[in-house]
Amino acid sequence: MTRRYYVTTPIYYINDVPHLGSAYTTIAADVMARYRKLRGFEVHFLTGTDEHGLKIQREAERRGIAPEVLADQMSAAFRQAWPALGCEPDDFIRTHEPRHVAGAQALWRKIRAAGDIYLGDYQGLYCVGCEAYYTDKELLPGGVCPLHKTAAEPVKEQSYFFRLSRYGERLLELYEKNPEFVSPPSRLNEVRSFVRQGLQDLSVSRTTFRWGIPVPDDDTHVMYVWFDALSNYLTALQAPEDNTRFWPPNVHLVGKDILRFHAVYWPAFLMAAGYADDALPRQILAHGFLTYGGQKMSKSLRNTVSPLALAEGIAPWLGVDVIRYCLLRSISFGHDGDFSIEDVLGRYAADLGNTLGNLLHRLLPFAGDAAALAAAEPAGPLEEALRSQVEVASRAAAEAFDGCAPTRALEAIWVALTAANSYVDRAAPWAARKQSPARLGTIVLTLAAALEAASVLVAPVMPRVAAALRQQLGLAPLAPRVGADQWPLAFPVRDPGHAFAPGEPIFPRLDKERIAELRARFAPPPEPAAPGGAARGVDATEPPPTRPSPATKPAPTVKSRPQTTAVAPAGRAPGASVPDKAEPATAEAKAVVDFEVFAQIDLRVGVVRTAERIPKKDRVLSLTVDVGEAEPRRIVAGIAAHYAPEALIGRRVVVVANLAPRPFGGGLVSHGMLLASDTPAGVRLVAPDEASPPGAAVR
Ligand code: ME8
Ligand code: MG
Repeated sequence: MTRRYYVTTPIYYINDVPHLGSAYTTIAADVMARYRKLRGFEVHFLTGTDEHGLKIQREAERRGIAPEVLADQMSAAFRQAWPALGCEPDDFIRTHEPRHVAGAQALWRKIRAAGDIYLGDYQGLYCVGCEAYYTDKELLPGGVCPLHKTAAEPVKEQSYFFRLSRYGERLLELYEKNPEFVSPPSRLNEVRSFVRQGLQDLSVSRTTFRWGIPVPDDDTHVMYVWFDALSNYLTALQAPEDNTRFWPPNVHLVGKDILRFHAVYWPAFLMAAGYADDALPRQILAHGFLTYGGQKMSKSLRNTVSPLALAEGIAPWLGVDVIRYCLLRSISFGHDGDFSIEDVLGRYAADLGNTLGNLLHRLLPFAGDAAALAAAEPAGPLEEALRSQVEVASRAAAEAFDGCAPTRALEAIWVALTAANSYVDRAAPWAARKQSPARLGTIVLTLAAALEAASVLVAPVMPRVAAALRQQLGLAPLAPRVGADQWPLAFPVRDPGHAFAPGEPIFPRLDKERIAELRARFAPPPEPAAPGGAARGVDATEPPPTRPSPATKPAPTVKSRPQTTAVAPAGRAPGASVPDKAEPATAEAKAVVDFEVFAQIDLRVGVVRTAERIPKKDRVLSLTVDVGEAEPRRIVAGIAAHYAPEALIGRRVVVVANLAPRPFGGGLVSHGMLLASDTPAGVRLVAPDEASPPGAAVR
């Protein structure tokens, strides 16, 4: 039976050209698609552009062009960007295309016929930036959108409504039966509590502008742009060719900003159109934001990076793969993460140059010795150990890719590459060349097999690097075939007669001038205003919590944040004086808060997996903490003066899991805080009972 895999990205708004943030989602989807293709799946990877609605109409007006012209220009920019970034979508849908218009109208008709669309009057608030309706409660004081920081606009007009209120129960049952429907699990809780609060019917048409899909049988209305946009996942399969065999989608990959539309509205629309639960999308996978200088990378903040300019700055052809690698390796998938040129330069030199590239270039000087290869003797213990390390990594990477955890997959692969480098040290081919050609033959064949495995393992993330590796190894380019699983679950066997084709280093060292130029060009943007100032990060980094206390100094600016502690010692402001050691530490009283305020804090049991000091930052430790998610979280804690890193491994801690991530400089971002108390003996971590599993709620 053919195994199929249908993966989608959001269709992007065309108010500007693609940036590294939109590229992040598309690259991640491309990685999933390439992985499944190598596993023998028949894959369909869909992306496209979202071209209708008030936001686009206004952008066209601003530019003084017709919305059709804007749509043509920008969708072309998106369509060209993806292959240039090594992405190979199977289809690209534009919502202004006739095939989509017809499909969206057909979906509307089905829901209307089922009685779940009705005509009424809408009165409320609308954010054009989000293309979303808001209640007063959801907005900031003054009716301001929390994402776009602009005032929501009052809307009062006749409107068609979708009976969303009818689907709350069934949605909750769906989440209950298929907890993986929303991933990662913390996001499921968010969706569930939104649905539990009660769903209101949704306004799904507008009459005050024309740039949209006409409502069937009533063209005084155009469809609400999210009704139009979400239906793309369905309509794209129907024409121009019949791809409906791919339905239902395996994964809708989205940023966390648009989770509600995908996890609540979209399945409800489909339910209303008659889709049974097993014909609904299998998973909505929400990833975090790429930040830059601590702020969400976005057009409105003018802090975007052009992915192509960056890639080409590093290397003309393979630079794209370097960016793909760094995005997926450095930003723990599902969490927010900061883009930094230092991180890219560091990984280029270390992970790619010293570990992967070097492995090939340690092998090649010995690869031409045909006599040694022909005389190769059977594998010994060193070879057996490497074989098993590669097979373990290959299995772990497969499991991680299966679970949409590309960061973990890369970590597993790099463990094996490091092991292969140690193998070269121990096997010492340079010594074997002098002493025993048969032994040299074994070493070369073993390393070549390890590199062959690596060329497949890295291929989903770095297809061009994979091709370059294979070329020098004398192997044919990878060619996925439906039904053929090419994942190297078993260590490859290298044919001794097979010739190598040595070439230039794949990751040449960047010269000083190039590095300086890259640093200057991609330096982090100016830091956000200090807390209390006007401009605040869009869901990126909140200012450090300021706790009212007589000792509180003016809130530190973001710049000083790396020096403040990421531990939350009860009742002490960052920077406040440490209590006198002789006296019992007593927390200061704080204002009374409602239970609802307390309940908003997501406290969880965590288990420390790794802990290390950070060069030049002597107050903090960098930890990874398992809080029951797909991957452990990076947490930076100001406890270096109180705990040795080794002493923390395996310890249970209480984690504040829904704090906005906080950058610590040098690309280091903390994704949570540990609870601790101030004692006369210094800061002590709060420790849950040994029986509490990682991820358990603390309440
Ligand atoms: O929301 N970090 O389109 P959009 C990570 N048209 N991902 C980012 C990002 C960042 N800084 N910036 C953008 C829309 N993204 C709708 C979607 S789908 C039926 C309709 C990615 O152009 C991320 O995937 O605003 C986010 O969800 C998406 O781009 C939003 O793109
Ligand atoms: Mg957006």
